[in-house]
Amino acid sequence: MSKTKTEILSLLMEGNYLSGARLAEELNVSRTAVWKNIQKLKSDGYNIEAVTNKGYRLLEPPGRINETLLAGTVQKSDLFEELIFKKTIDSTQNHAFRILDRYDGNIVIVSGQQTAGRGRFKREWLSPEDTGLYMSLVLRPNVTNQEMIVFNLFMSLAISSAIRESTGLKSGIKWPNDIFINDKKVCGFLTEVISADNIVDTIVCGIGININPSPVTGSLGTATSIAGELGREFDVNHFTEVLFDKIEYYYDKFLHASFSSIKEDWLCQAIIFNRELTITTVKEKLRGKALDITDEGYLVILDGDQNIHKVISADIEI
Ligand code: BTN
Repeated sequence: MSKTKTEILSLLMEGNYLSGARLAEELNVSRTAVWKNIQKLKSDGYNIEAVTNKGYRLLEPPGRINETLLAGTVQKSDLFEELIFKKTIDSTQNHAFRILDRYDGNIVIVSGQQTAGRGRFKREWLSPEDTGLYMSLVLRPNVTNQEMIVFNLFMSLAISSAIRESTGLKSGIKWPNDIFINDKKVCGFLTEVISADNIVDTIVCGIGININPSPVTGSLGTATSIAGELGREFDVNHFTEVLFDKIEYYYDKFLHASFSSIKEDWLCQAIIFNRELTITTVKEKLRGKALDITDEGYLVILDGDQNIHKVISADIEI
């Protein structure tokens, strides 16, 4: 997609009327180029009104993922070589596994809706249209299985930091794979890997973020959404830009630095400390308090009988 088209779209996303002359001046292109790109955006499906003496205005709802803007974001990224966008799909995670052999590098699959979204522990991930951001990242880390343990710590900090930065809301990390706002889940992610001979060749990380309240009930039950917490519409397209920046930054740290380099920031955003937790691991269910997270990524739990447990993965209720 042309640079001018993306730039016009970014400016129109601010929601104001912008005249052809103003756009031309701001982007240092001719008014004819502006007009041509507006026509291209319209034929891409954008609802742009043109009002005499006022200019152009985008009528797209800010909660809807905009494929052109997203493509621009991915093009700018140094991490991803390809975006696959689907209006609707069974699950971006399933699709990632179906197509990953066709690419050597990192790719991202995004869908506006999922008909069979899936979460951790084989749970269903409800994914109605225009309600959430549903995406799967396919990454090629070439790290050992041991090094892979801390991946979710980097990813959770990336997502929570993106939410904090673009909303001003105090999101928090519920170890290992959830992001909460005001003690309600706003995001969950799922990390699946392909590994051989102790080397992780491919990560497929599926991220689901609730952007808008449920179109049917107006709420998401015990969960929440970013727009719901903000009490106003939320521009998912701008958010995606911030999210990709954070993912790029923290994925690079994951590859080249140790968890200790981000541990302090992670602890500042974690919401599992200083409270009673119910922890369900594959082996047992225990009640206790989280004491620490080790540099290797193990959560240290003190149970009611004063026994210490180190857990690598679990389902936690707070
Ligand atoms: C969880 O909290 O259990 C993790 C939820 C992960 C949901 C995302 S949405 C995009 C990707 N596709 C899926 O089918 N699942 C993940």
